Amino acid sequence: MEITCSAKELFVFKKIAHAAADLGLESYVVGGFVRDKLLGRLTKDADIVCVGDGIALANAVAQRFSPAPSVAFYKNFGTAALKIEEFDVEFVGARKESYRYHSRNPEVEPGTLEEDQLRRDFTINAMAVSLNEQNYGVLIDPFKGRKDLENKIIRTPLEPGQTFSDDPLRMLRAIRFASQLGFSIEESTWKGICMHVERIRIISQERITEELNKILQSTQPSIGLDLLYKSGLLHIIFPQLVDLAGAEYIDGKGHKDNFYHTLQVVDNIAVHTNDLWLRWAALLHDIGKPATKKFEPGHGWTFHGHEVVGGRMVPRIFAKLKLPQNEKMRYVRKLVELHLRPISLTKENITDSAIRRLLFDAGDEIEDLMLLCSADITSKNKFKVKKYLSNFALVKQRLQEVEENDRIRNWQPPISGELIMEIFGLAPGRIVGDIKNAIREAILDGEIPNSYEAAYTLMVEKAKEYNLQPKQ
Ligand code: CTP
Repeated sequence: MEITCSAKELFVFKKIAHAAADLGLESYVVGGFVRDKLLGRLTKDADIVCVGDGIALANAVAQRFSPAPSVAFYKNFGTAALKIEEFDVEFVGARKESYRYHSRNPEVEPGTLEEDQLRRDFTINAMAVSLNEQNYGVLIDPFKGRKDLENKIIRTPLEPGQTFSDDPLRMLRAIRFASQLGFSIEESTWKGICMHVERIRIISQERITEELNKILQSTQPSIGLDLLYKSGLLHIIFPQLVDLAGAEYIDGKGHKDNFYHTLQVVDNIAVHTNDLWLRWAALLHDIGKPATKKFEPGHGWTFHGHEVVGGRMVPRIFAKLKLPQNEKMRYVRKLVELHLRPISLTKENITDSAIRRLLFDAGDEIEDLMLLCSADITSKNKFKVKKYLSNFALVKQRLQEVEENDRIRNWQPPISGELIMEIFGLAPGRIVGDIKNAIREAILDGEIPNSYEAAYTLMVEKAKEYNLQPKQ
């Protein structure tokens, strides 16, 4: 084999080779599996192309295992899949395709291996390894994909306009592979993308977002995000990010380019976490800046309240991108809303109550918030960065000390709303909220200790403002 496979993979490939030989079919391992093996990346599934009926081959292969694994059919696409232990193998007949202009659904006709390779997206994804007796294990690489892998180049096998017009998702795939693998996009392929960006509109949001997520999960997401911007794709799929780009000048005073700042923050955070949602928070942390931008004469550019406006934008952006509308979204929103808080604590004499308040508001997200904030320090001035980071280390230390003393994180005030209603015979309403808040604020500000007795006394005092007396 010209690729290095595990014993289990080789065992499965031999079974496929024998089943195909019995049926008189040619079969090949193709696509991402071959690419990733040559790159030494982890592989989890393999695509098999056979010249003939892929479903018949899948059935014949399943029969060679005991017990036979069940075969899943995708009739619309003429493919079938088997799971052999943890190894997913998908079968398809070799085909030539042409796509209808307004749809992603191809018109499929049976074809030869070469025709099948030609219709694939990139030379690095169009390599096949033979499972046929006469040349078992030989790499069939008509478009020099192996050389492109070595030179780290993404290139279409056909004229780029054809490949991208056939399936516009491939424009995003090219950029995603560039970001994931650290490859460059060959010049005419790049021009092909730039010329066809409008065609991305026929692709479903789910598939676009899947690629966006993969870009965000790459080691250096700025590579992919910048290519999306430069190609013009970002203007169509994520215009709010484009609104961050550029710097305006008035009276010789400019502000930083918030798009490139954001990219730097995403890269910074990617060094410390693989968590997709924390990376989303980094991507969106300044999303409210364009809407809040103002030039104040004598003062300069301001973005007051951008964290609140940005936080409000998160649910709409998540809905549009078909990202989950659940606790992941709330997590991202919370981090966007709080992202200035730790930094603001480096600028003043930090009181315990400010620290307590941050611990209370951030709760379990405090570590992620601190990570986002340090990633947000991107000044070009090394001295400034050093100063910020050392002040920031102090804030971290104080957070730890206050948490150890007061256990504020995940803390609930000693008197709940239910208890207030019971004690004063109240129905739910504004007064209950006011009393509850007064207790919480007094404890966070250190005016009273965090105890039931102190909270009870304050509650009775506060209730007098509403002419209320405890019932018992
Ligand atoms: N392919 C294509 N055009 C697409 C999607 C896929 O030509 N829009 C081809 C490529 O040859 C690709 C193969 O189908 O290698 C398998 O596709 P898929 O499993 O989606 O992607 P992989 O290349 O395996 O990579 P990844 O799993 O990272 O998406």
